[in-house]
Amino acid sequence: MSKVTEIINDFGERIIQVDGEIPVDLPTKNGDRFLFISHDQSFLTHGIHKYPAKFFPELPRWLIKRFSQERDVILDPFVGSGTTNVEALLSKRNSVGIDVDPFSRFIAKVKVTPLSEKALKDSQKSLLESILNYDSTEVNETDFPNFPYRDNWFNKEILLELTYLRNKIQQLMTNDDIKDFFKVCLSSIIRSVSNADDNCTRTVIRKKLNKLVKPTDALNRFAKTVLTKVPKMVAFSQNYPLDINVEFPDDMDARNIVYEKGHFDLAVTSPPYVNAVDYPRTHQLEMYWLEFAQDSLTDLKKQNVGTESVSSRDYKQKHQIGVQEADKVITNIYEIDPRRAYIAYKYLEDMRKNLAEVYKVLRNGCRYIVVVGNNRIRGQLFESWKYLMSIAEEIGFEVETYFGSEIIKHFIKVPREERINTDWILVLKK
Ligand SMILES: C[S@@+](CC[C@H](N)C(=O)[O-])C[C@H]1O[C@@H](n2cnc3c(N)ncnc32)[C@H](O)[C@@H]1O
Repeated sequence: MSKVTEIINDFGERIIQVDGEIPVDLPTKNGDRFLFISHDQSFLTHGIHKYPAKFFPELPRWLIKRFSQERDVILDPFVGSGTTNVEALLSKRNSVGIDVDPFSRFIAKVKVTPLSEKALKDSQKSLLESILNYDSTEVNETDFPNFPYRDNWFNKEILLELTYLRNKIQQLMTNDDIKDFFKVCLSSIIRSVSNADDNCTRTVIRKKLNKLVKPTDALNRFAKTVLTKVPKMVAFSQNYPLDINVEFPDDMDARNIVYEKGHFDLAVTSPPYVNAVDYPRTHQLEMYWLEFAQDSLTDLKKQNVGTESVSSRDYKQKHQIGVQEADKVITNIYEIDPRRAYIAYKYLEDMRKNLAEVYKVLRNGCRYIVVVGNNRIRGQLFESWKYLMSIAEEIGFEVETYFGSEIIKHFIKVPREERINTDWILVLKK
């Protein structure tokens, strides 16, 4: 069901509002701005774990149906939690998801792996019984994971409960796919039972919040999450099409895509924003508990497009990208903050590598769809989407169309100068 209406926002701008499913043939003109209202962001496995800057499912669903055919192969080179792959699968397309972050690949894999209902329910029963029979003396403190500031992030009772649950998942008499599903359920409650702020993309403790975490919170939350997520996984598994392949290659980078030329029929992605989310830092606690990291996250951070982990050697001199508008802004930032100027430059340089790689692995006549927003860096408006269009053209793409998708949480009355409320959808054709 969908409803398309035109509205005028508080700034007198024309916005096309689409409620629910996006019609496959929705007309799009350069510069159009849409307000897509998602009706179910936790449909099937979509909601089993939070992820920053996640797609709402209707968007990749629409793009996939509009620009590809059944059995085609779809690529998402910055896959995050795998929304594109879940949607590709449900639309009977094969897909590949690339991400440098092993935690993201883990969530994405669980979201596309069907499970037997009986095996799931047996394991659920066993875990719920373990919760009812919780006995903290069963937990050996040497089983606590070791990571920096652990005892600041978590209270002792919670460390005991989380370790108990982790052990019980590990001891389930079942296959690894089912264990992985329950590990994702466990991961999904970790932030809420830590002392860190639940609602911040960075993992930080805010004393002012006076967050209260009580003994049994981890056990109760885990039980609750399992009871909501198992039915979603069962429903997903019943909708699972046979003979569709999904891959999340290890050790691949969006800047070096090791697939043969012309392998893909469509690529859809939302790359990181420059200077915005520090992904490894966002889910550091979850990574420590699931043993994807032990101490420093610096190596992983450095691999991230948009990284802030740069060395002072890098910004001794000003770097330019060769796109006039971008270089003007980079120069302005350099005068105030050479480090931030380098971060911005490097972001575009990394995205240039990604655009060239995707160009290579796409079949002729096929599309790369990039969903990207703007930022403000040191007060300067950094219009990534415009610069990326110029770079894409240099590489050989034709910009078929570009249109905006309003970001709802910013759809409020704030001065024009401060508003960064639109993600831009670039349809690039090889
Ligand atoms: C905006 S998120 C993608 C969210 C995704 N659309 C979803 O629905 O979950 C961007 C992702 O890019 C990943 N990333 C950053 N640098 C990368 C690189 N060099 N190669 C591959 N992935 C990278 C980050 O780890 C993050 O998961």
